[in-house]
Amino acid sequence: MTEHLNILVHLYVQVYCQRLYFLALFTLALTNQGFPARIVPMTYKLLDLFCGVGGAGAGYSKAGFHVTGVDHIDQPNYGGDNFIKADALDYLMKNGRLYDAIHASPPCQAFSSMSAIHNRKHPDLIKDTRTLLNIVSKPWIIENVPSAPLEHHLMLCGTMFNLGYGKKSLIRHRSFEIGKWGTDFNPPPCKHTKDSICIVGHGGTDKNHHSPWIWKKALGIEWGTDRSQLAQAIPPAYTHFIGTYLLQYLSSL
Ligand SMILES: C[S@@+](CC[C@H](N)C(=O)[O-])C[C@H]1O[C@@H](n2cnc3c(N)ncnc32)[C@H](O)[C@@H]1O
Ligand SMILES: [Zn+2]
Repeated sequence: MTEHLNILVHLYVQVYCQRLYFLALFTLALTNQGFPARIVPMTYKLLDLFCGVGGAGAGYSKAGFHVTGVDHIDQPNYGGDNFIKADALDYLMKNGRLYDAIHASPPCQAFSSMSAIHNRKHPDLIKDTRTLLNIVSKPWIIENVPSAPLEHHLMLCGTMFNLGYGKKSLIRHRSFEIGKWGTDFNPPPCKHTKDSICIVGHGGTDKNHHSPWIWKKALGIEWGTDRSQLAQAIPPAYTHFIGTYLLQYLSSL
């Protein structure tokens, strides 16, 4: 009889202790204190400068980053996680160190062929952006059009990620300069088809141009935005690709 009672007491104490243990783990998880790193996954913070509608931001967010976008124009449909209206370089100088990594897409008009045709002058923000990023000294990426003066860049294209609409592929080359971190990127090859979708300017109205709805499908942008923002956006697939490498790098530190 006493032996049975002993076993029952033992079992009761065991169950009670287990409950206490799980309650303690749960409390620690809620307060985020002292919880083993392998149980609470780290969410890295990425700053998305000159964010526009957030084509780039959405890709990093999908890769697992918490993404804050900065643009000097309101972006009510921003595709990242959090939006701040500010001058990009001013914000970078004051707050850049609060982030784990930084992406910047300075306006590309200064290097676009349309600018040369119309002989228009636009400020080149790439140099200043690069200088400040190196001072802030977090892993960074600068994105721009292929004609922009980027150093040792990685080039990505929509056809590498099977982007497009119907039989038309999205040929959209963009360059990415990588700073303060490095890796061997291994992108798939370009697979250009004869028929392609062109996403530039205001789209025009002739039969070779497409509706914003088709542009969105081709870019892989699922949220609402207008034609001029789409014309400047990069497909989220590009930064999802880079973001996956960046996460690997950050978690190896
Ligand atoms: C090429 S677009 C960015 C596109 C974006 N990467 C995407 O994928 O959707 C450049 C953006 O820079 C913004 N911009 C230009 N000068 C700026 C400045 N000084 N500070 C903040 N944003 C600026 C423009 O409003 C525009 O939205
Ligand atoms: Zn290509």
